[in-house]
Amino acid sequence: MNGPVKVASTRILYIDDDRTLVRLVQKVLGRRGFEVIHAEEPDQVLSLLATERVELIVLDHYLRNGTGQDILRRLREANHHHPVIYVTGSSEAQVAIDAMKAGAADYVTKTAGEDFLTLLANAIEQAIANEQLRAAKELADAEILRGKERAEALLAEVNHRVANSLAMVSSLLRLQAARSKSEEAKAELTETHARITAIARMHRALYTSEDVRRVEMEKYLGTLVQDLDATMQDEGRDIRLTLKSEPIEMSADRAVCVGMIVAELVTNAMKYAYPSGSGEIRISFVRDTPSSACLRVEDDGTGFDPEAAPKGTGLGTGIINSMASSLETELVYPPQPRGTRAEAVIPLR
Ligand SMILES: Nc1ncnc2c1ncn2[C@@H]1O[C@H](COP(=O)(O)OP(=O)(O)OP(=O)(O)O)[C@@H](O)[C@H]1O
Ligand SMILES: [Mg+2]
Repeated sequence: MNGPVKVASTRILYIDDDRTLVRLVQKVLGRRGFEVIHAEEPDQVLSLLATERVELIVLDHYLRNGTGQDILRRLREANHHHPVIYVTGSSEAQVAIDAMKAGAADYVTKTAGEDFLTLLANAIEQAIANEQLRAAKELADAEILRGKERAEALLAEVNHRVANSLAMVSSLLRLQAARSKSEEAKAELTETHARITAIARMHRALYTSEDVRRVEMEKYLGTLVQDLDATMQDEGRDIRLTLKSEPIEMSADRAVCVGMIVAELVTNAMKYAYPSGSGEIRISFVRDTPSSACLRVEDDGTGFDPEAAPKGTGLGTGIINSMASSLETELVYPPQPRGTRAEAVIPLR
């Protein structure tokens, strides 16, 4: 048989002890497609709600045993959050205000005649539309949250894989360096190994930050310097690294350039400044003007002539210059009475 599809009608619980009015409401709202069920006592209301599907409650203020306010309170206590239309006597503004404060969705004033029924039906339709909107928004919010969680999980996974790949490249280079017959090739491979390790270190410092696009430089450089310090401890060097920094935000791309420069400068100071073995390397990254920050790496070591031929490959200077030009700055070595100071003023955008 192909009868019309039966859609469950919207169910309303009408709480009032005026049975004549309830019958009238049932008839009029029935024509508008609502099914009205009826209750009079608070206990009856709660047991009804425990077993019956109800979309909305209409609640009269004056009841034989107490007021609608009592029922409203008991509904909330029992964790029922149906929209409630509160029905008040003709001139009781305060009653309506109290009901709205207690969580009613709307109120309708009881007047004689058809007026009341029309107002009631309109209020019900409005409250149901609002409730549907609220439910749809709740769903959408939950969906957004799920999307965010998925994206975060994916990002963590990608970061994890990048870190793994960098670790693989790094150990490959170490293996190759160890097997190389030529001392020169061995030294160069070892250098590259150190640089890849530095990049891996920067990657780790970056992806442990909360926002992946913006990097908090104080935290980022903190992690970087801590790692460099640990490397030196491992090598048994007695060199102290200090960092002076401020909360400055940069984009991830630019932060990486700063990180690369710091790694090269600190590595140089570690390798060349203190042939006797012990000393201090000071790193600072602080605001210079509202739109720029000053990066400085200094030591109290042997000092050097930037024009002289490098002791190693000289690749470090190339890397530093290319990073500095990406940052639209230039690294300078102001003459010092002692040691080396490298400085760059970096524009912040
Ligand atoms: N803090 C420093 N103290 C003393 N000498 C330094 C310092 N920084 C750099 N130098 C000198 O500058 C030279 C150039 O450095 P650069 O980083 O370009 O090359 P490198 O370190 O020799 O080679 P690579 O970086 O490829 O290992 C070094 O060889 C070293 O002689
Ligand atoms: Mg170098």
